[in-house]
Amino acid sequence: MVPASGRSPRRSRSAPVTALTCCERIVRLGLGAVGPAALGLSWLRLHCAPWRSGQAQGCGVVALLAQAVTVLRHHHLTVHSSRTGFASRLNSGVRPMSSTIALFGSSRRGGNTGQFMDHIAEMLGIEVVDLGQLQISAYDYEHRNRGDDFEPLMNRVLEFENIIIATPVYWYSVSPPVKVFLDRISDYLDIPDLLASGRRLRGKSGYLVCTSVVERVPEPFVGAVTDTFTYLGMRFGGVAHANCSDGYARDLHDAVVREFVRLVRAPRQASARV
Ligand SMILES: Cc1cc2nc3c(=O)[nH]c(=O)nc-3n(C[C@H](O)[C@H](O)[C@H](O)COP(=O)(O)O)c2cc1C
Repeated sequence: MVPASGRSPRRSRSAPVTALTCCERIVRLGLGAVGPAALGLSWLRLHCAPWRSGQAQGCGVVALLAQAVTVLRHHHLTVHSSRTGFASRLNSGVRPMSSTIALFGSSRRGGNTGQFMDHIAEMLGIEVVDLGQLQISAYDYEHRNRGDDFEPLMNRVLEFENIIIATPVYWYSVSPPVKVFLDRISDYLDIPDLLASGRRLRGKSGYLVCTSVVERVPEPFVGAVTDTFTYLGMRFGGVAHANCSDGYARDLHDAVVREFVRLVRAPRQASARV
């Protein structure tokens, strides 16, 4: 029975060590080793990386360590994303309940696009990943940035069927964080060990959520995103646009939000603009 404190009773020191307690100790030991291991790997990566030392020797080991650091950064990502509640599920390794994920990028989190996206997310019951909170550097032809937050994020995104990209229109184009994210998808088309994962984008549905100060969102802007989805073998699910020339007004944009939510919930219909 669990006492009123909610804690389970402490096991007596003299209690016999059963197979279960043995396993428990092994798991605890393993978890305790993760922190020092991560530190050790980071140190090695810093001091042994060939692009720093100019030495080719040890490249294989460094590549292996870099891979391990990437895995550990997956854990790091959960810290960034905990602000959105993304963390707990990532940590637990439990598959997400929702089939939709939103990737948001704007120069301000609480601005027009952020409010619009949050309104939609609230109704869909999904979480919003703020790309601006992650360390994702610009596309690099030499792929020297594989240790940043991009791969952990992508591996997470690949678990979802619907991917919403949320961005303001900045000079007829997407916001810088969204552009960097889209550019980095090229990693999954270039790097041999990421190709199989990249193919998992095929057949997924991509949606666009955007704000601007005009009544009709510019065609080239929408086209740049939808053509990207198409190139990746994804289905374009639809776009929700809010004219925020007077700022974002929840009441005013509620109808658009509802229509878009209906669209995301009823996949495989013809894509639409709302
Ligand atoms: C740098 C910048 C460029 C912009 N370019 C455009 C544009 O090309 N077309 C447009 O309709 N609105 C443009 N806008 C207005 C924004 O799209 C609009 O205010 C949007 O709702 C801002 O969203 P945010 O609060 O998430 O930044 C621009 C705003 C900024 C700051």
